[in-house]
Amino acid sequence: MKKTIGLFAAGALVLALSACGGAAPAGSAGGAKSLDQLVVGFAQVGAESGWRTANTKDIQASFKEANIKLQFSDAQQKQENQIKAIRSYIQQKVDYIAFSPVVQTGWDAVLNEAKAANIPVILTDRAVDSKDTSLYKTFLGSDFIAEGKKAGDWLVADAKSASGPVNVIQLEGTTGSAPAIDRAKGFADAIATNPNIKVVASQTGDFTRAGGKQVAEALLKSHPEATVIYAHNDDMGLGAIEAIEAAGKVPGKDIKIITVDAVHDGMQALADGKINFIVECSPLLGKQLIDIITKLNAGQTVPARIVTEEGTFTPEQAKAALPNRKY
Ligand code: AHR
Repeated sequence: MKKTIGLFAAGALVLALSACGGAAPAGSAGGAKSLDQLVVGFAQVGAESGWRTANTKDIQASFKEANIKLQFSDAQQKQENQIKAIRSYIQQKVDYIAFSPVVQTGWDAVLNEAKAANIPVILTDRAVDSKDTSLYKTFLGSDFIAEGKKAGDWLVADAKSASGPVNVIQLEGTTGSAPAIDRAKGFADAIATNPNIKVVASQTGDFTRAGGKQVAEALLKSHPEATVIYAHNDDMGLGAIEAIEAAGKVPGKDIKIITVDAVHDGMQALADGKINFIVECSPLLGKQLIDIITKLNAGQTVPARIVTEEGTFTPEQAKAALPNRKY
């Protein structure tokens, strides 16, 4: 039902865009536009996680505050929907296109179409693997390899007190997405320093709570030797908590849990001792995106890569941070 409404909304958006005629590209004949004359198309991944919901809210609020018109579409985690949305933005001659690519590959054709239409593209949150970096102005978002490494470094330090092997179940994000690829790599690099730590099973839970629960349930059964779950986001870690409890075990004790994001529900589980460590991934990209658009619109250049600053949380740090947490 939710999916049907989402698709209908996406269709309605395409129709609405077709009907509105669009705006002239910023800086085209007639001179640069003021911010309140701009139209920006944003093709969001979906609503798969607490992180994504916080990211969407932040982007929408930032555009409202900056008084820039935002055309927003939700691709329901499907690349073909994102490509359709981007094509509709091109057709309508929006001034800028921003998007968070659901997967890394397969964007060259549509990005070349945007380039041919002279519409600057900004990548937010996730990267593409296009060799031609002139297809986008900048990539704003986290260093996912560093996030995976922070998760692995914590486990290496924690495993110093372990008497036997440390067997890890990895709950991967969406297959082919930048955060799933990079968080796995960063983690693998970090744990390679300790031959006692092994990833005994690794499977995608698609960044959702339901996916995390389902995969954790199955993998905990087939790998009773596992004592750690590394989930590529909080939502899958929260799903894993349900699976661990259903199996009569204690999350955070019998099975240690490491996650990435630090959204409210994850931080609460960390403060409650059900998660052991969280690596932060900030969804608050809206203001930085506005800043990039403002600069580009003024004819300035922006760095090709803008990395979000983020930290890590232990249970004690989560307790202290929770009262002022924005998401
Ligand atoms: O791309 C960022 C990731 O996507 C977040 O870590 C995850 O929660 C989301 O779905």
